[in-house]
Amino acid sequence: MDRLLVYGGSPLRGVVAVASAKNAVLPILAATLLTEEPCTITNVPLLEDVSTMVRLLSSMGVSVARQGRRIAVAASDRVGKEAPYDIVRKMRASYYVLGPLLARFGEARVSLPGGCAIGPRPVDLHLKGIEALGARVRIEHGYIHARGRPLRGGTVLLEGPNGPSVGATANTMMAAVLARGTTVIDGAACEPEVTDLARFLTGMGANVEGAGTPTIRIRGVRRLRGVAHRPIPDRIEAGTLAVAAAITRGRVEISGCRPEQMTAVVDTLRATGADVEAGRKKLLVASEDRPLGVNISTRPYPGFPTDLQAQFTALLTTGRGTSVVTENIFESRFLHALELNRMGARIDINGNMAVIQGVERLSSAQVMASDLRASAALVLAALAARGQSEILRSYHLDRGYEQLERKLAALGARVKRVTG
Ligand code: EPU
Repeated sequence: MDRLLVYGGSPLRGVVAVASAKNAVLPILAATLLTEEPCTITNVPLLEDVSTMVRLLSSMGVSVARQGRRIAVAASDRVGKEAPYDIVRKMRASYYVLGPLLARFGEARVSLPGGCAIGPRPVDLHLKGIEALGARVRIEHGYIHARGRPLRGGTVLLEGPNGPSVGATANTMMAAVLARGTTVIDGAACEPEVTDLARFLTGMGANVEGAGTPTIRIRGVRRLRGVAHRPIPDRIEAGTLAVAAAITRGRVEISGCRPEQMTAVVDTLRATGADVEAGRKKLLVASEDRPLGVNISTRPYPGFPTDLQAQFTALLTTGRGTSVVTENIFESRFLHALELNRMGARIDINGNMAVIQGVERLSSAQVMASDLRASAALVLAALAARGQSEILRSYHLDRGYEQLERKLAALGARVKRVTG
């Protein structure tokens, strides 16, 4: 099993480019099921989750040709209608095939995802979305069986106790594009990845209005065509690299990102005292001092993203004074805190709040990655710690960061992967 060795203490300097957003690519790949015509996605990052989605589509009989960062997909009328447990348990985003399969074929069988390291991940809003379009849903033997032909437009509120759902908004949107009549999604997620999916669907000939706002209107069309698409840059990777610059007291230009989709993150970095210049498609982050303590509360977009909570928690462990980080989306997403404490951090978890007393310096340790963003947080902490740290189970990182260690090494970090 791969692990990362990180020798901390070098300030990062230089220019680094971000890849396309994992969380935009995954639903877009699933949306190619909506047409038999070929679709091409370019600039696709080389990530484990992308490979899992490709494996899922291939296992259903979809023709998928992957050449470097370009993926060509063609889903004939004869593709399978099932996402099996074996794949869904590895990647929850497999449930993105539910909406498109139902829309095009009138049926889908998708395994329920089961447990997850960041806490409960219910699917009730996904089911509410497709049921509002007339689908009949049965849960049997660990699988969601959905049927409905034709689907008919409906109005649905997709807000749950923790706000809108990105996945349920995407699934309902994909189900609605081929339904008869008009669908209105209220309480829709406004994340840029939802807007990018809408852009992809519109390119296929769908009629989607209001993506990026809490109300999305979709007028169903009879058929969709193939399209070529380049997904948006990854704001979470950009934010992770920004923290890498700040936590090492370095100076890094993050190119190819969209600062206008990262305003809460830029504001928070500035509040810690980092110098952040937001340019056109780039961010320049520099820091000379220990960060100031700040309070962070995760929120749906455009608020502070839960997917950067762990990385900012790592940054604040070296802060001056006390910080409070409140996690409002996935309340138990704090497994990284216990590992950070093994590196000398002082974090107390109280329900969905982490109270962080900043320390002058972290110390290196052997630590265990538990999920994707927690792994990133541990790498960041190790970059700032004295001595050599070892991050076990680093495969979690490969799900969502393309060769993070190489990008960091190019900026001057002393990091290497040990295989086996
Ligand atoms: N929720 C429900 N019912 C549902 C679905 C969600 O109550 O049917 C709740 C969740 O429990 C959570 C909140 O709604 O409290 C928001 O969850 P959401 O559905 O938005 O999350 P998701 O679609 O499953 C995506 C990203 C996550 C990211 C969240 C929030 C993908 C593939 N995943 O998950 O990304 O944290 O949105 O922004 O897009 C990651 O990349 O590390 C990651 C976990």
